Order: sequence, then structure tokens, then C-alpha cells
Amino acid sequence: MKFSAPRGTKDILPEEAAAWRRLEEVFVRQCYLYGFREIRLPIFEEAELYSRSTGEETEIVTKQMYLFTDRGGRNLALRPEGTPGVVRAYLQSGLANQGGVWRLFYFGPFFRYERPQAGRFRQFHQAGVEFFGAASPQADVEVIALAMDFLKALGLEGAKLRINSTGCKACKPAYQEALRKALAPVVDKLCEWCQERYKGNTLRILDEKRPDCRRYFGDLPSILDHLCEGCREHFDGLRSQLNLLKISYEADSGIVRGLDYYTRTVFEINQPGIGAQDALVGGGRYDNMVEEFGGKPTPAVGWAAGIERILAATEAKREMAAKAEPVIYIASAGDDVAGSAGLVQELRSAGLPVVNDPLGRSLSTQMKDAARQGCRWVVLIGDDEIATGTVTLRDMESGEQQRVKREELAQKLKQLAEQKSP
Ligand code: HAM
Repeated sequence: MKFSAPRGTKDILPEEAAAWRRLEEVFVRQCYLYGFREIRLPIFEEAELYSRSTGEETEIVTKQMYLFTDRGGRNLALRPEGTPGVVRAYLQSGLANQGGVWRLFYFGPFFRYERPQAGRFRQFHQAGVEFFGAASPQADVEVIALAMDFLKALGLEGAKLRINSTGCKACKPAYQEALRKALAPVVDKLCEWCQERYKGNTLRILDEKRPDCRRYFGDLPSILDHLCEGCREHFDGLRSQLNLLKISYEADSGIVRGLDYYTRTVFEINQPGIGAQDALVGGGRYDNMVEEFGGKPTPAVGWAAGIERILAATEAKREMAAKAEPVIYIASAGDDVAGSAGLVQELRSAGLPVVNDPLGRSLSTQMKDAARQGCRWVVLIGDDEIATGTVTLRDMESGEQQRVKREELAQKLKQLAEQKSP
């Protein structure tokens, strides 16, 4: 074969695609339950949108963007994440001018030039939500509860929520300074990556996992001891409301997300035991972005979930695929092509999923074909059936067969489909 899919991308073949579609349905249903409405956006944007929000110094922007210039000389990027695009659309469309709160959700492909490994791709998919216009911890809790419910609805147990605060414009700089002070005596001993962080967004240094560097860290100051009064109150409010809703969490001052725009609340939901890339959901509050893009000051909070990781984490992959709508196979003797085509059309019009054999093969080959395709029922039309105006309906799971009058077939199949669906 001459071609293969680009490194870091993945084909989603029919069996897996059925699980994807189910997952999307579950996601959309949960979002509707919470009053969130869908937004669909371009997969490329002006590159500057991301350098101005995700962060000029973040890895996403410096190393991972798929950048290109189009024929009109515009500098564009395949979207590496969803939040900046949603903010742009929220402002550009005028939703922002309508005031009040806006609850939005999205689903689709995103692109980052990363080193591919299990759970990390160059084209991956996110389901995400963004909630505009509410500054209270109640909004944080609402989006967190939605994330937890989404995972629960997929049958995922054992996901761990960790929360932190990254402070605000008033208290973050002082904390960065305290961190720099604490690290100053050892900074020369740290790796190049840490040294770069030290000079720039020092907070990100807490993301360093390697013991080679961490052993020099010692007892670093915690952001939670440096929050201003407003941020402290917000964080306390978040905690007490999570307690109220019985959503368990751990406060972890080591959570510093790899995007620059966060203010106050940040959180991650991890699934232990699925390998190194176990962050399923990441999110937080970004109260300055709307204003920085030219809108009125508008608080906002949201998250995005990595779909590939969720599917890898849940047995739902197989379970959900099995729940794909069962297909009916019309197997007919070669000389009844016209009759079978008519029946296929009739059943499809009645809303039943149906296939037949376009190759004119023998009845026994058609039966094997139906089994290979995982069809739930086969409608057999042999000479005897044609003569008596009936069909033989075979349940492929139990092997049971019954004769059904041809005109009653659609009704019968509908009844069976209802009985079988969970
Ligand atoms: P993020 O943490 O960069 O946040 O991505 C969210 C999730 O996307 C991750 O937890 C992970 O599950 C998945 N993900 C990220 N990169 C990859 C990859 N290369 N391969 C597979 N999965 C990946 C954001 O993107 C923010 N926009 C979230 C947000 C929304 N914050 C506020 N609103």
C-alpha cells in the first residue's frame, strides 16, 4: 500500500465509530439536561487567536500548532483547543451583547503536533463546554457536575477530580515572585525546560514531574497560601458547594494547567490505571479572555474532555458498540430480486435498518454474510415463501425461525426491535 494515515492520526472504523456516536449522544443528552446549547465552529482560525490567549509561551503555541499560510497570505492554525474560538464566536456573533449567561457546548477534532503515544494523538477529539457570564463558584460547580455526570453516564467509575486555584491578576504575580525566590538557589541545577519556565510563567514549573529536577524543589510555597481575599472566598465557596452536592475531590496546589488564560479555579479529572496520559478532562475559569478579545469584562468557566482517552478508559467501547441499532438482512432466492428490493424499500420507509445482498449470491452464502455483518434478524425469502406470500424470520441470536405474513413483517420487526432495545 502506498499511503497510510499521517502519524498521530487514527481511522475510526465502523465498530468503534458506533461507540463514538453513542458517546456523542450521551454527551449531548447530558448537556441538554444542564441547559447547554451546541456551537459548531471552524477547525482553523487566525493563528494569533491562540498566541494571544492560550499563551505565547505555552508549548501548545510554541511547539504544537499546525500553522499554515493560505493562498491569500493569511496566517492560520488548525485549532489546538476550543476555548479561544468559542470566545471569538461569542463576541463576533453578538451573543455577548445579549447579556445574561450563555451555556455552550461543542464536539470535534483538534490538532496538536505532539509526540504520539498511547492516549496522545496529533488529531484528537474533544467534547467541551463553556459557561459565560457567571462569576460565582456556583458556575464552576455546575460545569464540574456536568463533567462528572457525563463520565458516570458512560459507566466510568473511579475518575478522580482535583481542584486548585491559580489566583487572579491581583495575587498571582506575588505568588510567582515567591516561587521564584524559593527556587532561586537551585535554578542552575534544573533542566532547560524548568529554567525557561522559571523566567517566564514560573507557575508552570510545578508541572515538572521528573525526580531529577523535583529533588531540588524542596518545600515550595503553595498558591493556596497566597490567594487574595476574593480568590480565597471563591475557592472556599467552590469547596463547600462541591461538598453540598457530594462530589468528591482533592484540593491539589500542584495543578497548573498548560494554558495561560486561567484565573481562579482550575481542575482536572483523571482516571488512574489507564497509563501515563490519564487526564480525561481539564478545565477552569478564564475571567479575562472576553475582555482581552475586546468584549465587556465577562467571567467564564469551562472544560474539555479527550474522547480517545475516555473511550480507552471505559469498557463502554465494546458495550456501546453492541448497542448499535441491529440491522435486518433480507436474504432472497436469486429469482426474486425485484420482490426483495421492494421489501427493502418498504422496511426502510417504515424506519427499519435493512440491507440485502447486491451480489446475487446463494441463500446459504447470504446467511453467512448476514452472520459476518452481525445482523440481528434475517428475513428469508425462498421459493415456498414467494408462493405463499410469507417470509421466514430468523433470530440470529437464538436461531429460532417463524413464518410471518409478508404484509405483517414491518409491524412484527418493529415489535421485536422494541423488545430487544435496552
Ligand atoms: P487541555 O487540558 O489542553 O484543555 O485539553 C483537555 C483534554 O483534551 C485533556 O485532558 C485530554 O483528555 C485531551 N487532550 C489534549 N491533548 C490531547 C492529545 N494530544 N491527544 C489526546 N487527547 C488530548 C483545553 O483544551 C482547554 N480548552 C479546556 C478548557 C475549556 N478550559 C476552559 N474551557
